[in-house]
This record gives sequence, structure tokens and C-alpha cells, in this order.
Amino acid sequence: MKSDTKRQMQRQKRRAEKMLKDMGKSIDKQKKEQGIAGYYKTYSRGELTSELGISKKTAESTLNAMQDKGIQLHRDETKATRPYKLTLENIADFYRFRGEPSYRDKYKKAWVVFIGQLKGGVTKTVSTVSISHGMRTHPRLLKENLRILVVDLDPQASATMFLSHKHAIGLVENTAVQAILQDLPAEEIKKHFILETAVPGVDVLPASIDDGFAAASWDDLCAEHLPGMNPNEALRDCLIKKLESDYDFIFLDTGPHLDALLKQCVVAADMMVTPIAPAQVDFHSSLRYVSRIPDIVEMVEEGGSEVRYHTNIAMMTKLAKKRDHIEAYNDAKEVFGGDILDAVLPRSDALERCGETFDTVITISPSSYDGAKDSLKRAREAVYDVSRALFERIEFIRSDLEEVD
Ligand SMILES: Nc1ncnc2c1ncn2[C@@H]1O[C@H](COP(=O)(O)OP(=O)(O)OP(=O)(O)O)[C@@H](O)[C@H]1O
Ligand SMILES: [Mg+2]
Repeated sequence: MKSDTKRQMQRQKRRAEKMLKDMGKSIDKQKKEQGIAGYYKTYSRGELTSELGISKKTAESTLNAMQDKGIQLHRDETKATRPYKLTLENIADFYRFRGEPSYRDKYKKAWVVFIGQLKGGVTKTVSTVSISHGMRTHPRLLKENLRILVVDLDPQASATMFLSHKHAIGLVENTAVQAILQDLPAEEIKKHFILETAVPGVDVLPASIDDGFAAASWDDLCAEHLPGMNPNEALRDCLIKKLESDYDFIFLDTGPHLDALLKQCVVAADMMVTPIAPAQVDFHSSLRYVSRIPDIVEMVEEGGSEVRYHTNIAMMTKLAKKRDHIEAYNDAKEVFGGDILDAVLPRSDALERCGETFDTVITISPSSYDGAKDSLKRAREAVYDVSRALFERIEFIRSDLEEVD
């Protein structure tokens, strides 16, 4: 390459890095000004009944008893009557106080979900981040007090962007891929790599563009850093196994490439979820992907790894009320039979836009949402329906597995 061209590239690199830094600072400032850095949904006493289905009498007597025991409950201090504004943690305490078990009492290890597809742009990432926030905060799942980790393995770092605005822009060194290659103890991964998201209980292990370089020379990097390890098993052995007792669900997100990172997800997953978008070109590519899943599994098995995932469930996304979309949905049902979620993610302005402000539809505050409020409300309801449907499906599979054991 000519030296002039090299100098041009370096100039562009420097300016791009400076701009990223400035953009990061400005987003941070904006978030602080809007005061929406944290998850804002809290519950009044009445909402324990209307949204969580707890009887009025139980809600009142339990809250009183908790107070008597000195358990701190969050209240709205701006109002003279100081009504309850119960946080997710308060609600978890409420159920514990009543002796109800949470998810972690039932299962000791995280269930690993890989929402994967080789077709780009079919909402793998939007589904992953929305469902992780949706499952955690679904009113009827609050009693489970779920702990959820999203592992971002896509160098585009889209999941990181939705879940952690601070790390959305700029360079992140402590990525999931780095944690794998360094084969660190769990405590170090938790302390230096895992980031909290706006919803307490949902964490993210971020990605960065450099992971793409690592993926491109994965086998060599494994030979150097993890001698003796099968490169397709590194995610499972160096990351998932170390964190599986700290989480109830671990979601994996990759880019749309059959690369070293995707193969590791196939090895690490307990369940695959295939998002299917109904637009003609998406639908055809998705079917082609589904027809090649056995070949991908075979490739990984031939590499010497056991693939232990128990099921592949399809999930319709970006579905509009259009004739050709309904046709595609019916065709998908024909392919998947019972293995397709009943709940669907609709095509939605809100699901498309929330990424612009580094939010999910669950964390975005309606007052700072620029689009139509009813679109946001419908998107939230749909995310909650899909999250619950997936949770119930997993419950069904896990309880069957426990019986076999
Ligand atoms: N339900 C939806 N309705 C409308 N737009 C959506 C919806 N879900 C996602 N989008 C938009 O579609 C685009 C692709 O979504 P997303 O990034 O989740 O796809 P992906 O499958 O993860 O893509 P990639 O293959 O690049 O990783 C994004 O611009 C997103 O905002
Ligand atoms: Mg993606």
C-alpha cells in the first residue's frame, strides 16, 4: 500500500476514535440529565393485586409484617402519604417472606439459550435483550427472582449497546471473548468483566470489534492460550461452567456467521431458539438455515464435541398484519409443528427505535420515548408475552428432563 494511503487510514482512525469518545461522553450526559440511568418500574400496594395477582388482604398483611421485622421497603418520599414504590428487590423479599421458593431453589445450574440464525437482521439481538429484560421483570415471573446473563459474542456488540449505554461506544477490553481466552477464575470474571444493566438481576458480558479478529484466528489463539482444549468447547468450559451457578438463564448472542463463536454456542447451549422473520427474503434464508442445522451439528460433533442441546424452538418475529406475513407464519407452523412459540414479536416501531437510545422497550421511560406511546405499550406487552411463553416452554422441558433423571 502507498504511504499516502497509509497516512490517510491513520488520520481516519484517529478521528474515528476521538469521535467515538465524544459520542460516549454525550450519551452519558444525556442519560444523567434525563435521570433514567436506572430501571424505573416500581409497584404500589394496589399493583401487587392488579398486576401480580396477590390478594389485597395478603399484600397488606405481608407488607405490614415485613415492616414490623424491620425490612426496608421503598416508598415515594415526594408524597405526604409516602405510598409504597416497591422495587424488584422488595418484591423478591416479599415472596421470600411468604416462604415461596424462587427459581434458584429449583434448579442449581443456569439454562443456556442460544437465539441463533445465519440470516442477518432477523432480530436475534433485539429478541435476546428484550427477552432477558422481559423475563426478569414480567409481573408474573417476579417471584422467581431470576438472575440472567447475556453473553455478547458478536463483534458488532449490539447486545452490549442495548444493555449498557456506557460501554456501547468506545473500546471495551474486557469482553466475553477475552474472558474465555484468559480462562479466568469466576470471581475475576464477575469483578472485571460482567456489567450490570439498567435492570437489577440482568447482567451483560460485553463484546467489542476486536473480538472479530480473535474469531478469525480462534484455533491458533486457543492453541496458544488454552493448550489441549478443543476450540469449540472453550466458551462452555472457560466461561459457562464457571458462571452457571450464579445465573438462572444465560443467553448467547452471535453475529450471522458460521464462525468459531457460533460453533461454540452450539456446544454450550441447552436450547436453541431460531427467530423467523416473515418477509420473503428473510423467510427463505431462514428455511435454508433450518435445513442446514443438522450439518452444523454434525460439523461440531466431527470436531470431537458433544452437542447436548435438547430442543430447537422457532419464534416468529417482525410479524405485521399482512397477508403474506400470515402465510409465512402458517408455513413456519407447518415446518416446526409444536416447536414454535405461540407468542410472536410483532414488527414494531418501538422495538426498532429503542436501540437508538441504548434501551430495551422494558427500560425505556415513556416520557423520554420519542415515538408513539401506544406502539411502546404494545411492544412491551408483546415482549412480556414472548418472555413468558419461552419461560413456560423451558419449564416444560426442564421438568421432563428432571423426571428422566
Ligand atoms: N420487531 C421488530 N420490528 C421492527 N424492527 C425490528 C424489530 N426487531 C428488530 N428490529 C430492527 O431490525 C434490525 C435488526 O435487528 P437485530 O439487530 O436484532 O437483528 P440480528 O438478527 O441480531 O442482526 P445481526 O444478524 O446483524 O446480528 C435492527 O435495526 C432492529 O432495530
Ligand atoms: Mg445481532
